[in-house]
Amino acid sequence: MNTADSEEMGRTLVGRGFGFTQTPQDADAILINTCTVRQHAEDKAFSFVGTLREWKEANPNRLLIVAGCAAERTKDVLQKRFPYVDLVVGAKSIEQFPEIVEEALKEKFSWEKDNVGVWPDEGNGKEARAHCAYVTIMRGCNYTCTYCIVPFVRGREIYRPAAAILKEVETRVREGAKEIMLLGQTVNSYRGEGEIVDFSDLLKTVAQIQGVERIRFMSPHPYYFNDKLIETLAATPQVCNHIHLPVQSGSNRILKLMRRNYTRERYLEIVQKLRAAIPNIAITTDIIAGFPTETEQDFDETMDLIWEGGFNGAYCFKFSPRDGTDAANLEGQIDQETKECRLARALELTEDMGRKKAQAQIGQVKEVLWHTDQEGFSRDSYKVELLNGQKTQAGSAQPVNIEGVKSRKLLGRLVS
Ligand code: 5AD
Ligand code: SF4
Repeated sequence: MNTADSEEMGRTLVGRGFGFTQTPQDADAILINTCTVRQHAEDKAFSFVGTLREWKEANPNRLLIVAGCAAERTKDVLQKRFPYVDLVVGAKSIEQFPEIVEEALKEKFSWEKDNVGVWPDEGNGKEARAHCAYVTIMRGCNYTCTYCIVPFVRGREIYRPAAAILKEVETRVREGAKEIMLLGQTVNSYRGEGEIVDFSDLLKTVAQIQGVERIRFMSPHPYYFNDKLIETLAATPQVCNHIHLPVQSGSNRILKLMRRNYTRERYLEIVQKLRAAIPNIAITTDIIAGFPTETEQDFDETMDLIWEGGFNGAYCFKFSPRDGTDAANLEGQIDQETKECRLARALELTEDMGRKKAQAQIGQVKEVLWHTDQEGFSRDSYKVELLNGQKTQAGSAQPVNIEGVKSRKLLGRLVS
């Protein structure tokens, strides 16, 4: 989501004549898109803003913009703590970004038409996945998971009209995209209009667009994972056989305290149905370790669910109390050491399972969409690298014989 928003805001700047550069010293403007989902993300973003003080003070005509969720959450203090920041644009205002930034640009830069199109590092930072496009289909979230800051900083769900989504997909395909990643906080709660009632309908319609070879989506919520969606995934070959389905915990007591609206049994039922409907599906998940009041037994149930789920990978996080959320105010906060210990257990198990799953891919033939001339992704989201310096063409898709594994990356040769 953050990457997609960055690209959207980036496009506004490109539309005003900016290009990309990898070096701050060459930049006239820096836009930092922040995340606040965990304290760590926010700390990282603000420490980066801190390092830009000299850059900004060396030339006050430079423009420093801080955008995104952490900016939304901390607007007032942010401006006080970093007075040299020119513009703070909260996550809720991303749609108004073009107008907001216009004023600041007018103040700082005077435009000359001739300048447009002459840039030092044109396209830098984007090329790596030019054939894979992120398309936002909804913003905000109607859930109120008790640990989560997102509803506070992004507001309630707003669905992008299906016609606008389809138009963007067509544009991206024309620009060279072969893979479309549909994005939303709970992407499968999408509501459309007319023929496109729900997310399943949207998937089917996107799949009909000429040139769309692969469709992915992120992140679905288990609550909206109905049978229609599973049938649609199975019946739509463009949809990739990898699903990221966050579970958070394997304990029903904790799931209830998290206000997730499903049980471990229901979650595992979805996993089992997905496996039955879609051959070789890869499933990944998110885990939170150390939610308030979580006991050893609760966490054992999470470990047990990880095992039963047979995940290809997982993002595991320590619970991070976010100001204003219900969970941050719950009695029974877990101490740091216990959180770390549980996190380490989850990481060890998921990494070990991930390695074994990767090993099991040896001998298979996988279609790889090349991001560079040597590296790309399979439909089930494995990173695949060509062996022995073999080279191909970025942006093309070819079958590869999987012959080896380097941690979770697969190694293979083009099928000749
Ligand atoms: N603490 C830890 N992890 C969190 N996540 C969201 N909020 C928190 C929090 N307060 C995790 C969830 C979610 C992912 C994007 O971040 O696992 O799925
Ligand atoms: Fe946060 Fe829950 Fe919404 Fe996901 S579904 S964004 S975890 S409130």
